[in-house]
Amino acid sequence: MTADDTTSGTLALDKQPAPDAVENASGPLLTVTDLVQRFRVPGGMMNAVAGVSFELGRGRTLGLVGESGCGKSTLARAILQLTKPSEGSVLFDGEELTDLPKAGLRTMRRRIQMVFQDPISALNPRRKIFDIVAEGLVIAGVPAEEIKPKVEAVLRQVGLDPELVADRRPHQFSGGQCQRIAIARAMVVDPDLLICDEPVASLDVSVQAQVLDLLDEMKTRTGVSMIFVAHDLAVVRNISDDVAVMYLGTICETGDVTAIYESPAHPYTRALLDAVPTPDPGAAPAGPALQGEIPSPMNPPSGCRFRTRCPIARDECAAHVPQLRDVSPGHRVACHFPLVGEAAVFAHTDQGASQTAPKAGQTTPEDEPVEVAPAARED
Ligand SMILES: Nc1ncnc2c1ncn2[C@@H]1O[C@H](COP(=O)(O)OP(=O)(O)O)[C@@H](O)[C@H]1O
Ligand code: SF4
Ligand SMILES: [Mg+2]
Repeated sequence: MTADDTTSGTLALDKQPAPDAVENASGPLLTVTDLVQRFRVPGGMMNAVAGVSFELGRGRTLGLVGESGCGKSTLARAILQLTKPSEGSVLFDGEELTDLPKAGLRTMRRRIQMVFQDPISALNPRRKIFDIVAEGLVIAGVPAEEIKPKVEAVLRQVGLDPELVADRRPHQFSGGQCQRIAIARAMVVDPDLLICDEPVASLDVSVQAQVLDLLDEMKTRTGVSMIFVAHDLAVVRNISDDVAVMYLGTICETGDVTAIYESPAHPYTRALLDAVPTPDPGAAPAGPALQGEIPSPMNPPSGCRFRTRCPIARDECAAHVPQLRDVSPGHRVACHFPLVGEAAVFAHTDQGASQTAPKAGQTTPEDEPVEVAPAARED
């Protein structure tokens, strides 16, 4: 390792890309298709992830947003194969992860790192910070003489002085500092994909901004692709290139940041945006507040999963499952009556709300033929 390597942040391990990976180097880094994660729970089975598909481009950051309990962590864990997906495909750099034997998974897990919500419990309290950060390099078989400079470089990159922190243990640090250590531990192996599962949710607001800035800096410095999970659309706005909005185990809208924040087409996205506090305390909310609780994934509503809380639900919403489809290039929404054009205005009145739609629990088969509504029903 040269001096330049430590100062420039180049911490690459010798990677052994699969032959398919070389062929697919220009394609998306990650392609998730029809992913289902089913759990056995008292009373039956439930789909915590109920058929999710998306792509993540190389060097891009996807913000994955939805209320607590909608399946974000389960999806993250299924991508990383920490739980074995029940159905579907996870193609990472041309390699199908759901088929990989244990040895292949171990190699792959160096290339996909995860940062968790609670940094303190994510770090082994008995180990010194140096050993915690060095662990991935040791497992990867990096020669001992290379490990120290790599660990010191990454600690500096996350804003910690290696002289001061290396011999301490996690309990001697604040939550924000522990999250910096967790980010260092993930980034030291030079991953291709970093999955951050609500990495700032447990931190004080002032510290949240610092950790978000750090992740943004890491992304710029290394070109790592990122999935950034949050329950709040405000948190992911600045760090994301693309956003996927999740509701009750499915993705209901996806698009680039401009499309999602400036032209949200799904009533759920609209409601999440309306819940974001505006800097102006006197400003009126842009639309109706989100009512009620997220239904149980054990017993999802028939048709559109959001219909029991949707201000513009109609009979059709109970009968047919809306599929993701383009409302503009790259902007996809799963709604029979997307909020585009005049429909966006219509959604903010109560004229469209159906009183006759069946309630949660009256299910229709999800695989039944779906009627695709015209792009913008503005009746
Ligand atoms: N191992 C598990 N066994 C049973 N149910 C689970 C398990 N993990 C998560 N769930 C359930 O799956 C749903 C989604 O959970 P989770 O992915 O943690 O949501 P989020 O991260 O969006 O808050 C919840 O209803 C949760 O209780
Ligand atoms: S499909 Fe119907 S219930 Fe679902 S979000 Fe669209 S309008 Fe609302
Ligand atoms: Mg979670």
